[in-house]
Amino acid sequence: MKSMGKRWVRWAFLGILVVFAGMQAVRPERINPPVKAEFTLAAQYEVPGEVMAILERSCGDCHSNRTRWPWYSHVAPASWLLADHVKDGRRHFNIDDFTEEMSLKDVCQEIRVGSMPLMNYLLLHPGAKLAGSEIQTVCAWTSGAKAK
Ligand code: HEC
Repeated sequence: MKSMGKRWVRWAFLGILVVFAGMQAVRPERINPPVKAEFTLAAQYEVPGEVMAILERSCGDCHSNRTRWPWYSHVAPASWLLADHVKDGRRHFNIDDFTEEMSLKDVCQEIRVGSMPLMNYLLLHPGAKLAGSEIQTVCAWTSGAKAK
């Protein structure tokens, strides 16, 4: 009985390996579109250096066109998740391509309630965590920010 159990484990492990290898064939796009100066947030609003530094550090990987793709972004299924987050993130808020549908008020809202940066991102990037004072700095700016 004991040896049969072991054999089962071996086959299951092999099965997982095969599935894992197969998953690698599905490669999502990891593109950093070119940054066009006239579309950036800074081209449209007066952004203090301090605020820009916070946004780039803590949000830039998902909300800019300058994503730093880590090694595990090449390994499925992480690659799928990451590509999806970046695509979705850029659509909602993009420092490098700030469109009319995007809202600075939401930026303050999201960080104040702690829903951004995403929890699973923070686990891998503890340096992206915002201090209370940084949240205040960003919110003070968003509440007064006027389009150029
Ligand atoms: C790991 C990727 C990631 C990081 C880092 C990240 N975001 Fe997001 N963000 C997303 C995704 C994905 C969405 C869209 C889905 C959602 O709302 O959860 C989103 C949505 C948003 C939205 C739109 C919310 C809405 O309801 O429309 C805002 C605003 C936002 N993020 C701001 C920020 C700010 C500010 C930071 C940095 C402090 C940040 N995000 C960091 C991935 C990220």
